[in-house]
Amino acid sequence: MRSVHIPGSAPRLLCFHGTGGDEHDLVPLAQHIAPGHEIRSYRGISDEGGMLRWFPRSGFNVFDVTAVRAHLDIMLAGLREELSDDELRASVFLGYSNGANAIAALLQLGAPITRAILLHPMQVLDERADLSGAQVFVSLGERDEMISTSQTEKLVASLKEMGASVTLHRAPGGHGITSDEIEAVRTWMSTA
Ligand code: MLT
Repeated sequence: MRSVHIPGSAPRLLCFHGTGGDEHDLVPLAQHIAPGHEIRSYRGISDEGGMLRWFPRSGFNVFDVTAVRAHLDIMLAGLREELSDDELRASVFLGYSNGANAIAALLQLGAPITRAILLHPMQVLDERADLSGAQVFVSLGERDEMISTSQTEKLVASLKEMGASVTLHRAPGGHGITSDEIEAVRTWMSTA
């Protein structure tokens, strides 16, 4: 997969942008929350009228599970071309919006992920995996016009039921990433 790679210390951050973004979007955020750490920031593999994403959608927040799974398979295969499963487990996955949804879905499919930062996610798949030992930071916007608080809360409940340790941050804004959210991620990173 096309990516930006910035060498640095462990743990490395693997970044997945939101709809319409690209591999450069989350680099400043990753550098802020984990200064000096290795960063690999990827470019979405699905194209929706020129907007890059991680998997296609058939309507707004409407998903064809088969197409989602096929794209997640490609995404995971792309990561495995660069990193072993142990290296993936030692990484921190960082995603925003559609990128966060892709990471959440990979967690549900039992991908080798132990730490994840999911900014404004929702649940896309219904699969369940054993997530005991996984640490997940989730944020939502109280006035998010793209992903409702209940959609994020549903994902949080599922992740907890699967055994993950989840930190939920409620930001006062909408779908955009707020400064208080960034500081909450930074604090979580320093203890994760
Ligand atoms: C999705 O399609 O993954 C969600 O609606 C988030 C987004 O708008 O990309």
